[in-house]
Amino acid sequence: MEAKLSRAAKKLTSSPIQELSYLAQRCNAINLAEGFPDFPAPRHIKNAAVSAINSDFNQYRHVQGICDHVSKMVKEMHGLEIDPLTDVAICCGQSEAFAAAIFATIDPGEEVILFDPSYETYEACITMAGGIPVHVALDPPQWTLDPSKLLSSFTERTKAIVLNSPHNPTGKVFTKDELEAIAGACCSRNCLAITDEVYEHITYDNEKHISLASFPGMQERTIITSSLSKTFSVTGWRVGWAIAPAFLASAIRNIHTKVTDSAPAPFQEAALTALGSPPEYFESLKRDYQLKRDYIVKLLGGVGFKIQFIPKGSFFLFAELPDNYPHSDVDFVKKLILEAGVVAVPGQGFFHTSLSSNEASNVNIDYQKRYIRFAFCKSDATLATVSERLSKILDSEGLLALH
Ligand SMILES: Cc1ncc(COP(=O)(O)O)c(C=O)c1O
Repeated sequence: MEAKLSRAAKKLTSSPIQELSYLAQRCNAINLAEGFPDFPAPRHIKNAAVSAINSDFNQYRHVQGICDHVSKMVKEMHGLEIDPLTDVAICCGQSEAFAAAIFATIDPGEEVILFDPSYETYEACITMAGGIPVHVALDPPQWTLDPSKLLSSFTERTKAIVLNSPHNPTGKVFTKDELEAIAGACCSRNCLAITDEVYEHITYDNEKHISLASFPGMQERTIITSSLSKTFSVTGWRVGWAIAPAFLASAIRNIHTKVTDSAPAPFQEAALTALGSPPEYFESLKRDYQLKRDYIVKLLGGVGFKIQFIPKGSFFLFAELPDNYPHSDVDFVKKLILEAGVVAVPGQGFFHTSLSSNEASNVNIDYQKRYIRFAFCKSDATLATVSERLSKILDSEGLLALH
């Protein structure tokens, strides 16, 4: 009966990295693999959710106030005028907003440009819609965008480009120059942009997140997607949104209605409280995460990881194995799970630029198996336990043992 599975389902098989996740569960490993906090969500928004449940917000629901808040936030952060009545679609997290944006815009055979490395979900959604992902490599160790590589990836079939900044897995925040180059390419090639801005409020060292939609000519061709998940430590609440010109937002809303009908009603109500949080909330979010970033950079740098790029945003550290470490990222993570009881993600799952296409141009892509992604959105106690457990895989000099 397995033959009855659709082509899309057959393509979405579990990866070797998911197998590591099962191993981690069996070993009861501390989870630095997945991007969700293990500390409590802010009390004021939890109270709002409890109160919404007690007030019987139990039915399908569209909470227009979310659109009002989101429009106001985008105006304040990026100077964009958004009509809350027509230009915002509330969805079940950024994930559904992104999938709906893809299904609203991509026909089979159309190409979508992604940066490499990138968050895994994009490629899966594009493929499910019959689109063709085209990857543009960011150059390590600073994950810089070479505009000429971007320009040469466009064809007459290019329909859209996906931009995630602040970036998972590297922690990169695209610079103004890079964004200008992306915007210029989108305008000159008449292509859409779909942005993933879930880490918009998590930036460090006074780095400011700039939305691609704020560049000249971009608002009319950009779908911004984001959510409550990361900003308010509520990845399980499933409230997100897409912001786009009315015809696109309406198409996304139609797809959302057919697929899930509405985001969870009580959590939409609580979103009003979350999005209305005072400026101090957002400041302390950055401050707390910056301390965690500094802790993990010091910890992993101290045991010999090569950390040439310090995250400027998001809550991931993409740390490079020491040059003299003889094994791959997957081997390292297996050892980390089995011997230290900690799990992180081997970086190779985030890379898609294939060996064959690069071999033709003689580009060395061995680096794709040298990175480990650590999620540091964890309590200080968890991070301190990680530090203790790491000692089990260190040599007498306190550096990662090389066997
Ligand atoms: C870059 C990025 N986008 C989106 C998501 C998921 O967002 P949501 O929970 O709103 O679906 C994640 C979660 O890890 C992420 O890292």
